Amino acid sequence: MEINMRKATMEDALDILKWRNDEKSREGSFNKEKINIPQHLEWYKKKMSDENCVMLILMDGEEKAGHIRLDIQGDTAEISYMIAPDQRGKGLGKEILRLMEQSAPSDVKVLVGFTLPGNEGSRKCFKDNDYTEFTAGDVICYIKTLTR
Ligand SMILES: CC(C)(COP(=O)(O)OP(=O)(O)OC[C@H]1O[C@@H](n2cnc3c(N)ncnc32)[C@H](O)[C@@H]1OP(=O)(O)O)[C@@H](O)C(=O)NCCC(=O)NCCS
Repeated sequence: MEINMRKATMEDALDILKWRNDEKSREGSFNKEKINIPQHLEWYKKKMSDENCVMLILMDGEEKAGHIRLDIQGDTAEISYMIAPDQRGKGLGKEILRLMEQSAPSDVKVLVGFTLPGNEGSRKCFKDNDYTEFTAGDVICYIKTLTR
C-alpha cells in the first residue's frame, strides 16, 4: 500500500477524536481525560483556522492511519501525533514523523516533541528519526534542527 500524507479536513475530526480517546493514546497524553464531541469540535475548528497550525493525516492507501499536528511559533514547530489504534506496531509512527518533514512549512527550522518517560513507542519514533533527547523533570523533550 502507498503511504502518504495529506492535509486534514473537517471530515477527519471524529476519527481524530476516536484515536485520541483510545486508552493507549490517553496513557501517552499529558491530559488523560476523555474528550467529548462538542469540546473536540470546538478545539478542532479553532486549530483548522489557525494559520500557525498544520494538521495532517497519514494515509495507508485509502485508509486513514494517523494524524500529526504542528503548532508553530516563529521558526519552531511543536509536534503532536498519533497512529490509529488498529494500525500501530507496523512502523507508521516512525514514518509519520519522517514524512511530516516534507509537509512542514519552509520557515520551520526546529522540530520539538514532548513525551512522558513511559511512552517507549513514541520515544523510539523520535530517536529513530534522529531527534536529540533532553530530560526535563517528568517530561522527555525531543529536538531536531532541519537542514534544508
Ligand atoms: C506512539 C505511537 C505513535 C507509536 O506508533 P507505532 O506506529 O505503533 O510505532 P512504530 O510501529 O513506528 O514503532 C516504533 C518502534 O517503537 C517500538 N514500540 C512501539 N510501541 C511500543 C511500546 N508500547 N513499548 C515499547 N516499544 C514500542 C516498536 O517496536 C518500534 O521499534 P523497532 O523500530 O525496534 O521495531 C502510537 O503508539 C500512538 O499513536 N500512541 C498513542 C499516542 C501517542 O502516544 N502519541 C505520541 C505522543 S508524544
